[in-house]
Amino acid sequence: MKQRPSLLSWAMDMSAMARAFATVRRRWPRLKPLAAVVLGSGWGEVAEAFEPRGEIGYSEIPGLGAAGVQGHAGRLLWAGPAGRALLIFQGRRHWYEGDGWTPVALPIYLARRWGARSLMLTNAAGGIRRDLRAGDLMAVRDHIHAMGAHPLVGPHDTFWGPRFPDQTAVYDPTLRSLLRDAFLAAGVRWKEGVYLAVSGPTYETPSEIAAFRRWGADAVGMSTAPEAMLGHAAGMRVAALSCISNLAAGIAHTPLSHEDVARAAAEAAPRMKAVLSQWWKRLLEISEP
Ligand code: HPA
Repeated sequence: MKQRPSLLSWAMDMSAMARAFATVRRRWPRLKPLAAVVLGSGWGEVAEAFEPRGEIGYSEIPGLGAAGVQGHAGRLLWAGPAGRALLIFQGRRHWYEGDGWTPVALPIYLARRWGARSLMLTNAAGGIRRDLRAGDLMAVRDHIHAMGAHPLVGPHDTFWGPRFPDQTAVYDPTLRSLLRDAFLAAGVRWKEGVYLAVSGPTYETPSEIAAFRRWGADAVGMSTAPEAMLGHAAGMRVAALSCISNLAAGIAHTPLSHEDVARAAAEAAPRMKAVLSQWWKRLLEISEP
């Protein structure tokens, strides 16, 4: 067992992240990323929608390691024109895995350090708002960070902007309106809402869900808010897309399981693919060189 003696041993390791950047840049020296997408649970195949042109396994990127949870293939891909590329992080690392913030933050660090200005985060989430159904896609308008741990705790590094980053508009309205157009073009009903992030790995109790609803949460999950905060702090435009994989605890009267979450996410993959590829097409259009 690794020893994890102090709170700060969880903190992001900026020098490990710089080494990871050197590794990927050496592999793809001419790449100029415009944007990055992080694919959550069960969406390995969504990456195909972008017609990727290169691949590096996470195990080859120091600090990123092998993504642990089933359904996370764990590789970095790129797509689009090399001069305005999309980085695709296929598989995400989570805080609940216990390896600290470095693997969670690395995709954001790499994308920003490489010049990407736009970030799309995806996740599977439990639906809290009454109109949400399993299989719905929901654009994130704002979040409630309730993980009880924060990726920016630790020594301040100006890569992540000021010490106390403003959170008034973490999710960028322009990226969200592109997303809305993408929903329309893909024939998917538009929903948006507030995502509440918990640490996991337990799902919630019905009382927690009842409390979160009173707080104003529409959906709940175990990721995304930290990456959104980091991307925004580093000066990126951030968007996020939740796939409602289940009704949250106590709304559905059946126990929750990872298998059901993964199955629902896989069923939504064709819609996710359609929406994300439309979104990328539009982002490319408004970002002519
Ligand atoms: N709760 C937390 N995380 C989740 C859920 C949920 O109901 N569904 C998918 N990820």
